[in-house]
Amino acid sequence: MNILVLGSGGREHTFAYKLAQSDRCDSLYVAPGNAGTAEIATNVSISVTDFNAIKECVLKNDIHMVVVGPEDPLVHGIADYFSETEELKNVMLIGPSKRGALLEGSKERAKEFMLQHSIPTAAYASFTKESLNAGKAFLDTLKPPYVLKADGLAAGKGVLILQDIKDAKQELENMLAHQKFGDASNTVVIEEFLDGIELSVFVLTDGEDYKILPTAKDYKRIGEGDKGLNTGGMGAISPVPFADTTLMNKIEERIVKPTVMGLKEEKIDYKGFVFIGLIKVGDEPYVIEYNVRMGDPETEVVLPRIKTDLVDLLEAAYRKELNNIALEVDLRAATTVMVVSGGYPEAYEKGKEISGISSVEDSIVFHAGTTLKDGAVVTNGGRVIAVTSLDSDFRKALKKSYQNIAKLSFDRMYYRTDIGFDLS
Ligand code: AMP
Ligand code: GLY
Repeated sequence: MNILVLGSGGREHTFAYKLAQSDRCDSLYVAPGNAGTAEIATNVSISVTDFNAIKECVLKNDIHMVVVGPEDPLVHGIADYFSETEELKNVMLIGPSKRGALLEGSKERAKEFMLQHSIPTAAYASFTKESLNAGKAFLDTLKPPYVLKADGLAAGKGVLILQDIKDAKQELENMLAHQKFGDASNTVVIEEFLDGIELSVFVLTDGEDYKILPTAKDYKRIGEGDKGLNTGGMGAISPVPFADTTLMNKIEERIVKPTVMGLKEEKIDYKGFVFIGLIKVGDEPYVIEYNVRMGDPETEVVLPRIKTDLVDLLEAAYRKELNNIALEVDLRAATTVMVVSGGYPEAYEKGKEISGISSVEDSIVFHAGTTLKDGAVVTNGGRVIAVTSLDSDFRKALKKSYQNIAKLSFDRMYYRTDIGFDLS
């Protein structure tokens, strides 16, 4: 069948790489894609939220499956658009309906869902401009640090963690009264701070059944030792060494099952990925957030470990047949290290020529922010390339990633040299 992947990052290159390996994939398209996807698929220059253009592309190229990478088109209702459009309703779109996508699109909605279905998460209350004073009074009842979350999508920047009560009150005011994150902060969720270690669990669900995919841990901060500004993710490791059977059983029973059951009970059409951001406090898992898509760079370590044909797996999710398919996982560890443009996550330059990609051996180069210019691969984003490696343990895999990164170069290239530093 012909397949279209929506998106342009490392996540989408990884999806394309796995889909291209399937005998069932005839022609593969990526919209808009990058220089890496151009090597294994046809890039189509359309935006992921231009539903009309996507429709034309699907019809013109006889596409039978659409894999949605980022959250934006999902939150804007691309799944509903497909199911409600006569010519598209039989196309297998992998991704939740708009109601399902609200689990990521609204932090308040996600908290209500967790409360409704008794899923462990931090205590919270939410506030609007009208209840700003009540929000400040609520902060007075909490101990520092204070966690403030803009309700809507804020490009990963909408969560503030503050030590000082005065700063917390001021930021609450900035968010609610001065639109610090635009409309996304018209509502703010204030949460109890949870102290622990984070991990991510990925679930593929058809709305009834589910498969728990390999776990991963990402490294969000720009600086070594998890210091500095938040980024989209500077590296990832799968599996998470401390996610043992005991913890995974708790996660499955207390979090995954009630999440899938909750979607079903609320009659939410959900055929796609649930990315559950978790924090382990002592020995107990709590949900920090839901995302309604795969993570980036987590995908770069999760998908390479999946041995089951990805087209078969996604089709089973679409057809509500996940209980009929076995998930086979490579037991080796996978690591990925992200190479970024100097300056990221603040201002950075684009268009720098990247050399050394063809010298990489025994690792996989996933392009994140690249494009082709006069036949050369040049930087086109903050996160540029993710180098993924597999080996018997994560340290050996990391060594390969770093040895290969040493062969890459472009002006002001930067990467963290300490991915996995906190794991034993
Ligand atoms: P989110 O966008 O909700 O994933 O939050 C971004 C980051 O903020 C998370 O990855 C955590 O590191 C941190 N965070 C969010 N909520 C909490 C919380 N309740 N307690 C401690 N840290 C949190
Ligand atoms: N790496 C975090 C995310 O994809 O949201």
